[in-house]
Amino acid sequence: MISMIWAQGLNKTGDALGIGFNGDLPWNLPEDLKHFRDTTMGKSVIMGRNTFMSLPGPARPLKGRTNIVITRDKSFTYEFDKPDTELIIVNSIEECNEYASNLNEEIYVIGGASIYNDFINYADKLVVTNVEGTFDIDTYAPNIDPDIFKIESDSGKLISETGIEYSILTYIRRTV
Ligand SMILES: NC(=O)c1ccc[n+]([C@@H]2O[C@H](COP(=O)([O-])OP(=O)(O)OC[C@H]3O[C@@H](n4cnc5c(N)ncnc54)[C@H](OP(=O)(O)O)[C@@H]3O)[C@@H](O)[C@H]2O)c1
Repeated sequence: MISMIWAQGLNKTGDALGIGFNGDLPWNLPEDLKHFRDTTMGKSVIMGRNTFMSLPGPARPLKGRTNIVITRDKSFTYEFDKPDTELIIVNSIEECNEYASNLNEEIYVIGGASIYNDFINYADKLVVTNVEGTFDIDTYAPNIDPDIFKIESDSGKLISETGIEYSILTYIRRTV
């Protein structure tokens, strides 16, 4: 099963939802990083090369998970030494799907923008953190079509130790 997880917040003009700025997250929300870790631990995660390289050095690849990184660069390699951690590099969405179809587990797509858009048609579950406030944004969130996905759970308003308000919603694909 393909699931997707991301955090989104409004841009400064309040007319679009974003996920990134300057190769990093637009906000400081330690509780959401923990939520991300808890949700994806022990699973396979699919990401674009920019998202992989946006992880802080010691967090790259994400430990305890199978990291599947998509890049067109056939010479891309990354050395690491972490137990219970795998790094698979693929050069196309097709190659990624081929690899993922052999996994009998929940796989999380973890970004960025084009990767979310490439996979949303295959996803059955979306785990979305809504971050309150407006932020500098240069990378945008995928659109959630309410005719295709319905809300399964909503954490209600939560408050970070940084003072930022946020909520975590889970969407599931509607059955016809
Ligand atoms: N808020 C969140 O939850 C969240 C989650 C993830 C990321 N982010 C943020 O999003 C930003 C990074 O995302 P991004 O959209 O810039 O980049 P990205 O999607 O992570 O990576 C883009 C790269 O992936 C590779 N790629 C994409 N499509 C491909 C395809 N069809 N075939 C082969 N390779 C493909 C290419 O790598 P090559 O150039 O190497 O060929 C491309 O440059 C950062 O700011 C990060 O902090 C936020």
